[in-house]
Amino acid sequence: MEDKPIVTSNSVNQPTASPEAEEAVLEIWGQQPLSGHVSISGAKNSALVVLAGTVLSSQPCRLRNIPNLMDIDRMAQVLSALGIKVSRNGSTLDVDPSDISHTRAPYDLVSRLRASFFIIGPLLARMGVARIPCRVVVRSGAPVELHVRGLQAMGADVHIDHGTVHASVPGPRGRLQGAKIHLDYPSVGATETLMMAATLADGETILENAAQEPEVADLANFCRALGARIRGVGTKTMTIAGVPSLHGTDYGIIPDRIEAGTFLAAGVITRSEISLSPIIPEHLSAVVAKLQEMGSQVIAESPNRLRLVPGHDIQATDIQTLPHPGFPTDMQAQFMALLTLANGSSMITETVFENRLRHVAELNRMGANVRLNGNCALVQGVPMLSGAPVQGTDLRAAAALVVAGLGAHGKTTLQGLQHLDRGYERLEHKLIQLGAQIRRTTVNSQDLPDRPDVLESAAAPATPSFLPQG
Ligand code: UD1
Repeated sequence: MEDKPIVTSNSVNQPTASPEAEEAVLEIWGQQPLSGHVSISGAKNSALVVLAGTVLSSQPCRLRNIPNLMDIDRMAQVLSALGIKVSRNGSTLDVDPSDISHTRAPYDLVSRLRASFFIIGPLLARMGVARIPCRVVVRSGAPVELHVRGLQAMGADVHIDHGTVHASVPGPRGRLQGAKIHLDYPSVGATETLMMAATLADGETILENAAQEPEVADLANFCRALGARIRGVGTKTMTIAGVPSLHGTDYGIIPDRIEAGTFLAAGVITRSEISLSPIIPEHLSAVVAKLQEMGSQVIAESPNRLRLVPGHDIQATDIQTLPHPGFPTDMQAQFMALLTLANGSSMITETVFENRLRHVAELNRMGANVRLNGNCALVQGVPMLSGAPVQGTDLRAAAALVVAGLGAHGKTTLQGLQHLDRGYERLEHKLIQLGAQIRRTTVNSQDLPDRPDVLESAAAPATPSFLPQG
């Protein structure tokens, strides 16, 4: 197949509705048993940051197992705007970052993809300057201060002016300096930004209280494949010895543990035995442990394949989201969908993000009994969910509503597919292959119910401009 340059948003997974009157929705007829095997795509969050990491390399890179998603297209467009050539052939992306002609990321792309802020680290390290226009950063203030403080510790001058983050390295050589940086919180993005920046810095950088998420380790392994010198990958302390330049590589990213977890949830709610591959079992430890507490069995059929044997009932349990290796915030919503049907009551505490409980109002519309108190949700199990028109308000909320719809009696109509399409490759096709009755269609927006409750949800974000990224 011929390589296709990525210059505009890809049509795959895009809602097909015209903006005025029509809206794309998923219609799900629930309580259909699933069976068979599902193939897990490459990890969205790895792919995003590895794409950003190609900026570090002075030679072409080939990236394999890259999912075809809106978020990935947007990151590829950010790279294109810097003068980097990106072309896709199936799940392989060829990126040629040999010549970078611009150091300013375009406003319209960055404001739609928070992860594109992560380009600041590699761009600054390679070019000595980076300018990231970012309304999200300016309005919300807090969510990138760990990135900024770390870059400042490495000698960068970083300031925000007229909605743009300006970062530069003083001095004729434009090289960052290695530093000892203690992160107040093990932020995934800040760890990634600083690790990438340190690979081309003068001297050694020690990152303490680093994030240990598998996607951070995947990025570190990609950087090592480029020739970076990184020790302590996957631990709380990473040591990066800067090198003068990095070379090209051919790198395959890890499978998406959150997609895998979402399919496990789909299997549990429909009481269906399904298998998944490829997966890396250790990446799913916290999720599998919870499923076992809830009465399901997850069996390793081979080193990269799991089989779900669901329990007859779902047992209530408490969940607290935490940085890895704790229970992932990106699985909280899908597990809440499961616990709405559990025997007894469960407490879900969201500690990672402030505004990640907006699916509660939607699940309650389907007959769930969930009460919110700050960042805690008390889920009282009910015998049955009923299909309803619901709105996905962010990526994982939308995924949770798909799971709930699969387990509900009757038809669920899910709006807000722009969120779902950011992060799940061919979701409905994969579900149909397992036997789900689900279809993507368009409806006239006027026929959809007014949804003031979504906007006025008790869990509305304290900082409305900070969109959660799943
Ligand atoms: C990444 C993932 C996201 C996942 C999250 C936590 C990507 C593209 N997204 O997001 O799917 O849910 O990790 O596993 O990889 N924070 C600050 N200041 C900062 C940085 C973060 O206050 O400078 C806060 C955030 O507001 C949030 C928490 O720290 O409350 C966790 O954020 P972080 O770990 O940075 O998540 P992301 O990298 O944005």
